[in-house]
Amino acid sequence: MKLLHVDTSPKSERSNSRALGRYFVETLALGTASLTIDHLDLVTDPAPAMTEAFTIASYTPAAERTVEMKRALVASDALCVRMLDADALVFAMPMYNWSMPAAFKAFIDAVVRAGITYVATADGRYVGALGTKKILFLTTRGGDLRPGSPLAGMDALTPALRAAFEFMGAVDPRFVDAQPVQFAQPDDRAAALDRARIELDQIAEEWTGQPILAAA
Ligand SMILES: Cc1cc2nc3c(=O)[nH]c(=O)nc-3n(C[C@H](O)[C@H](O)[C@H](O)COP(=O)(O)O)c2cc1C
Repeated sequence: MKLLHVDTSPKSERSNSRALGRYFVETLALGTASLTIDHLDLVTDPAPAMTEAFTIASYTPAAERTVEMKRALVASDALCVRMLDADALVFAMPMYNWSMPAAFKAFIDAVVRAGITYVATADGRYVGALGTKKILFLTTRGGDLRPGSPLAGMDALTPALRAAFEFMGAVDPRFVDAQPVQFAQPDDRAAALDRARIELDQIAEEWTGQPILAAA
């Protein structure tokens, strides 16, 4: 299995999303004989910022692009290749102001590409290229937005991720949301991380088809 593992938190050792992402990948490795990992850190290796040249080039048919246009798309093309090359995608990120960090939004803006990650059909439909991939979004939230919480209606992150990736063809993307991991008592934070690890174990077992933890 080829895995693209994307990190987005500006925190390093203190990051909950990075720690949970590592935990998931390590668990997955226990049940996967040949796991190849492509790690993309969007903090040290950010997706390209949007430019006028990019907006023009990306909507110009490939056969009509000038050298300058092609140059404007190089970084985006490379990110698309890394994503399309993988069998499984793991995106770890903190919730920032109810949605995604800007670093991950820049990544989405770079990989939602006409003719590469989706095509528009003559009869007006959009067909995405991610349909065969296993996809996990691992988000960490300082507060508690679970159903029933007063903050539950504030989650603009899950719908935004779902819209962008389902547009690119994602089928049944999985979401593990660790919450509350900051604005809560230590016991509640620890319980949130435990719940997330249990969900990650289950997804790793689903993805590998192996009873990883019973064997460990
Ligand atoms: C700029 C900023 C904005 C944040 N916005 C929210 C928010 O809207 N809702 C929330 O529950 N937590 C919010 N948090 C808390 C983070 O989501 C939380 O600390 C998370 O665990 C960070 O993930 P990390 O440890 O991987 O960096 C915010 C934190 C920062 C620094």
